[in-house]
Amino acid sequence: MRARPNVLQLEPYQPGKSLEELKMELGLRDIIRLSANENPLGASPRVLQAVQQFLPLIHLYPDGYCQHLRHALAAFYQLPPDHFAFGNGSDELIHFLGLAYLEPGDEVIVAHPSFVRYDAAALLNNATLHRVPLTPDYRHDLPAMQARVNERTKLLFIANPNNPTGTLVYREEVERLLNTLPPHVLVILDEAYHEYVDHPDYPDGLDYVRAGYNVVVLRTFSKAYGLAGLRVGYAVARPEILEPLERVREPFNVNSVAQVAAAAALTDQEHVRRTRELNRHGLNYFYQLCERLGLRYIPSWANFVMIDLGRDSRAVFQVLLQQGVLVRTGDIFGMPTFIRVNTGTPEGNTRFAEALQMALSEQ
Ligand SMILES: Cc1ncc(COP(=O)(O)O)c(C=O)c1O
Repeated sequence: MRARPNVLQLEPYQPGKSLEELKMELGLRDIIRLSANENPLGASPRVLQAVQQFLPLIHLYPDGYCQHLRHALAAFYQLPPDHFAFGNGSDELIHFLGLAYLEPGDEVIVAHPSFVRYDAAALLNNATLHRVPLTPDYRHDLPAMQARVNERTKLLFIANPNNPTGTLVYREEVERLLNTLPPHVLVILDEAYHEYVDHPDYPDGLDYVRAGYNVVVLRTFSKAYGLAGLRVGYAVARPEILEPLERVREPFNVNSVAQVAAAAALTDQEHVRRTRELNRHGLNYFYQLCERLGLRYIPSWANFVMIDLGRDSRAVFQVLLQQGVLVRTGDIFGMPTFIRVNTGTPEGNTRFAEALQMALSEQ
């Protein structure tokens, strides 16, 4: 028995230990996870209520077309309902884009470092992957990405803001790119952290969908809406671009609880506003901390920040963990002196600050 060679090139997801296992192992009462870019406020109370009410119906198969959620989003964005496709997280939509569009020998352009699931979509489908380094200020280098476009290019991924750096691509840059790309290239604007961004030059990808460009916008309920555990993301594009995705997906890929929760979450924009405000405070608190400790950081427009510790961050990671604070090490992104930490509650942020100070003084 032998798996496909390109499958063997893929790194399996490293699930890591559960928070419960880590607590037992380290003898800790609690651990705060600031490594997964989750919403520290949790989901809106409206979501919890809607899910509770729905539970007696979980023996029924979900609506395979997400009608209710589809119409809710269509009204929210003033777009036709056929401009949406749904996934078990936006992760699944990235997978569908690969399955639906890539043939062996096709080419995919991504930034590096950026979200790793784009690479997986390319490799799984035997497409050639071009990783274009970020600029020295850690932003997508769109002219360099554009320079890699040729007649085999099918997909070009832009995470805006980027994960792991939290940096933006600005409106003018996106427009220059879109106006020069040949028509066989599909641009994926992954806006997983869209709701957090408050920058005047941040483009709204939906404008380009409305204007008829070959663009797919990806958004998710996992981040600002606080539904990461339920797995629901959506793609927005012209229906003829989404139609191949409908062919590759399983009939019931978004579960019924997730659909109910997402529609309820959308009605509570006050929760999103509170989330955004809490994040802004958290980022400012982290920036001040870095300035106090003399650490460099990458100013972020998402809900996490990359902090340069000026040394291999893995030892610091261990000391933080022993104090019950879980962050991400930068080695997985090719940035080994950095940690990526997401904003938490004010108490969580303080705990991170204290733990970091202690970790750095110990090293
Ligand atoms: C840039 C980006 N895109 C997509 C995702 C996937 O999110 P989900 O599958 O939870 O919707 C993430 C999650 O970390 C992300 O950072």
